[in-house]
Amino acid sequence: MSILSGKNILLGITGGIAAYKTASLVRLFVKAGAHIKVVMTPSSKEFVTPLTLSTLSKNPVYSSFVNEDEDNAVWNNHVDLGLWADLFIIAPATANTLAKMANGVCDNLLLATYLSAKCPVYFAPAMDLDMYLHESTLHSFQVLKSYGNIMIPATSGELASGLVGEGRMAEPEDILTFIENDILDKLPLKGKKVLITAGPTYEAIDPVRFIGNHSSGKMGFEIAKASANLGAEVILITGPTHEKITHSLINVISVVSAEAMFNEVHNYFKNVDIAILSAAVADFKPKEIASQKIKKNTETFTLELVKTKDILASLGAIKTKQYLVGFALETTNELKNAKEKLKRKNLNLIVLNSLNDEGAGFKGDTNKVTFIDDEDTVTEYQLKSKAAVASDLLNKIIENIHA
Ligand code: CTP
Repeated sequence: MSILSGKNILLGITGGIAAYKTASLVRLFVKAGAHIKVVMTPSSKEFVTPLTLSTLSKNPVYSSFVNEDEDNAVWNNHVDLGLWADLFIIAPATANTLAKMANGVCDNLLLATYLSAKCPVYFAPAMDLDMYLHESTLHSFQVLKSYGNIMIPATSGELASGLVGEGRMAEPEDILTFIENDILDKLPLKGKKVLITAGPTYEAIDPVRFIGNHSSGKMGFEIAKASANLGAEVILITGPTHEKITHSLINVISVVSAEAMFNEVHNYFKNVDIAILSAAVADFKPKEIASQKIKKNTETFTLELVKTKDILASLGAIKTKQYLVGFALETTNELKNAKEKLKRKNLNLIVLNSLNDEGAGFKGDTNKVTFIDDEDTVTEYQLKSKAAVASDLLNKIIENIHA
């Protein structure tokens, strides 16, 4: 899945011959799962028609402040367009438009939108080689870069003038790859390894029975997905669950028992930067596992249980650089117990969910949590989807790591 999936992309087209390639560019963005709107300078319409672009983007195309086609004139709000966009890509970007952008000139809708856009702006220059190398153009590039705009360099090749040299707009496929890579490189967890535990554990009693719990694994899987979407390499160690996930950055390791989870966690812990233990690990397991199915030939039956290893506490005891996060499911004295658990297990952060809150806990799709960190900062959240809780948690971790 492309990182551009679900993103709002505003494509700005200016008046150069390379504008004909924007039809393919729009197709590629749509294929990547992005939502596209197009804003054109008046002269770009000489090179590619708004009808082509509105058909491909499935949206109206904007080129003037007032929509002339309507009986009742409609104001095309450049501020709204700028706010709608997650990314603004100006391709092709002519020397004329680049110079205007660099100097705050605002004589068409595209330029007004540029001045009001708050999102990252990419520009893909396209012009003849002498124009591309002119001091004034180089100056525009430099000024735009100093504004934080990102240049997608032109390539060398045959130009529309017949001359050969630098100035060809990057090919649509290369523009797409450039933007995808740029976004991936800037993700806040890029280069970080995150270990996550999820789901319940099953502790065998005999070959057919076990002690387990109702954990669905949803919370841990959402945390894994959110971490990978922020660029992290994820090791997801999960107990038995119906949840499924496929993501190039997530390595899923399935285990059954607390002992197996303990072993796998310790295989990976040394090399990770962040460990988030959301699994509902069984606290006790049968002292002996019967090798044959136990018969019901007595009136009562006593099972002797022994404690499982506390995975979270074992990591707290050996952690060095790792940011360690645990969960606490409390029913009484919630805050006090969670704070005490944070200290006892040597954690950096604990996620408290109270069974007293409707919609919280490990079975459903929602959760209501409070984060407590090792600086004693307590942050309480409303009831939210587990995906939103995962996103809040990662934002908090990123904020604390960078603090
Ligand atoms: N946990 C763990 N290994 C265990 C038990 C728990 O890693 N054997 C982790 C859970 O994944 C969770 C945290 O510890 O992150 C909370 O566990 P919990 O059972 O609530 O806390 P305990 O310290 O076991 O205390 P108590 O059950 O008495 O509240």
